[in-house]
Formats: sequence, C-alpha cells, structure tokens
Amino acid sequence: MTSKVTEVVRIAAVGDVHCTRTSDGTLQTLFAQMSECADVIALAGDLVDYGLAEEAHVLVRELGATTKAKIPVVAVLGNHDFEGGVPDIVKQILCDAGVIVLDGEAIEIKGVGFAGVKGFCGGFGRRALEPWGEASIKSFVKEALDEALKLESALAKLRTEHRIALMHYAPIAATVEGEPLEIYPFLGSSRLEDPINRYQVHAVLHGHAHHGSPEGRTSANVPVYNVSMPLLKRHFPDRPPFRILELEREASPSTNGHVGRGEAITDRIGVATPA
Ligand SMILES: [Fe+2]
Ligand SMILES: [Fe+2]
Repeated sequence: MTSKVTEVVRIAAVGDVHCTRTSDGTLQTLFAQMSECADVIALAGDLVDYGLAEEAHVLVRELGATTKAKIPVVAVLGNHDFEGGVPDIVKQILCDAGVIVLDGEAIEIKGVGFAGVKGFCGGFGRRALEPWGEASIKSFVKEALDEALKLESALAKLRTEHRIALMHYAPIAATVEGEPLEIYPFLGSSRLEDPINRYQVHAVLHGHAHHGSPEGRTSANVPVYNVSMPLLKRHFPDRPPFRILELEREASPSTNGHVGRGEAITDRIGVATPA
C-alpha cells in the first residue's frame, strides 16, 4: 500500500491593473499580498494603461519586491498594452525585470503548465463574426483565428498533467455577462474556446471585461475565471482584488499517466483573505 503525497500549487491571478505613470506606490501592496498567498502570480493583460514604456517601468518598480523574491510572475499583454504602438518595448521591459510574458508560448512552473496569449475579439457562438465580405473584416477575423492557433500550439507543447490557459480576452460569453450586450463582440471570441476544450485545460484566467461576471464554464465544462481587477473589487469589496486558484496534485503518477479533472486534482477556488 502506497501513501499519497500531495503538492499544492497556488496561483494568484489578476488582470487589468492598468498601471499608469502616476501609479507609483499604488500596486505594491497588491503584489505583496499576492506573493504572500501564492507560489505563482498570473497577470491577465492590460498591465499598463496606454501602452507606454514609462508605464511599464512604473509597473516593474511596483512588482520589484515580488520579482526580487523570486516568485514567478507570468503574464500576457492586453489591448491597452498595445495602445502606444510599442508592445514589444513594453514586453521587453517586463521581461528584463523577470516577468514571463507569454504570447503563444508555454511554460511549466511548479509542475503546472501555463499557455498564454492575448486573444482577440469577434464575438461568441453562432453570433461570432465570420470572415466574409470586405478584406478588413477577413483580417479582423483572422486575428482571432491566429490567436486561437497560437493558444493551441502553446497547449500542444505542454507535457504537464495540468494546464492553465492565461489570456486577456474572454473565450466564452458567460464571463462577460454584465457588460452591455452591444459590446460583447469586442470582449472576446469563442474561437479561443476550441483549443481550451480540446486540450482539457484545467482552468482559464482572463481579464478585459471589467463589468463582466467572475465565473463561467466552457461547453466542455472547463472553468473560466474573469480576474479583471475592477470586477473583483466590485464583487468582493472586502477582499484583496485577486483570485487564488489552488491546485492539489498527487505526487504519485496514475496508471495511465493522465489524471482527469476532479480525480487527482482538487480545485479550491476563492478570493484570498488578507494574510
Ligand atoms: Fe482593461
Ligand atoms: Fe482590455
């Protein structure tokens, strides 16, 4: 008889911190709380407000203690990070500070696989925009398809039992509910949902829909969490504005090398209480 050994990996997630040139001192406490509560920090895009290098430098200073403490910080860019026209510079400033910025790449941290993309918009389900008519519409839809392909190739690289998909835009409509119906198509794309289902992702973390809903599920029952900071502040006003995803892994391998959700892994989701 073998005893079961478990390992718990805690992911602290938030999106849409929208760091500005005047944010000095305003995010340090948040990142300190996150690093105290978790093994990994995940940032779901809109890291800065206008996509400026200056803002990225402020964010790096705010993250300073966290990155110096060697808590891994994994991130994706959001649409605001592109506004200044220099997303590569914003990304490089963050990378130079030790942040792992994923754009169609995958990384394993503490045995958990992360696949990250920005994602894109275009709408959901039968109402999604189709690549038909003008070239501009076709290129718009292609952007969403390309992001879905990038997510798929990132997921395909992971050999971990458990996979987290990190993105900025929403892959399902459920977590944008609460936003005006008219802007649903600009908040995400269900084209991102296909690879999530196919690769049996354990959970999805996204932001962007500041006025959406905290939780939903894909058509294959994968949990999706909207971790947009303004949304968390509104839904959980008495808690720090981030979400903890706690993964409990059995250290002993299963007989077939694959462990399904709800078997060897227990998902305890909650907004962290202050330390
Ligand atoms: Fe945002
Ligand atoms: Fe956004």
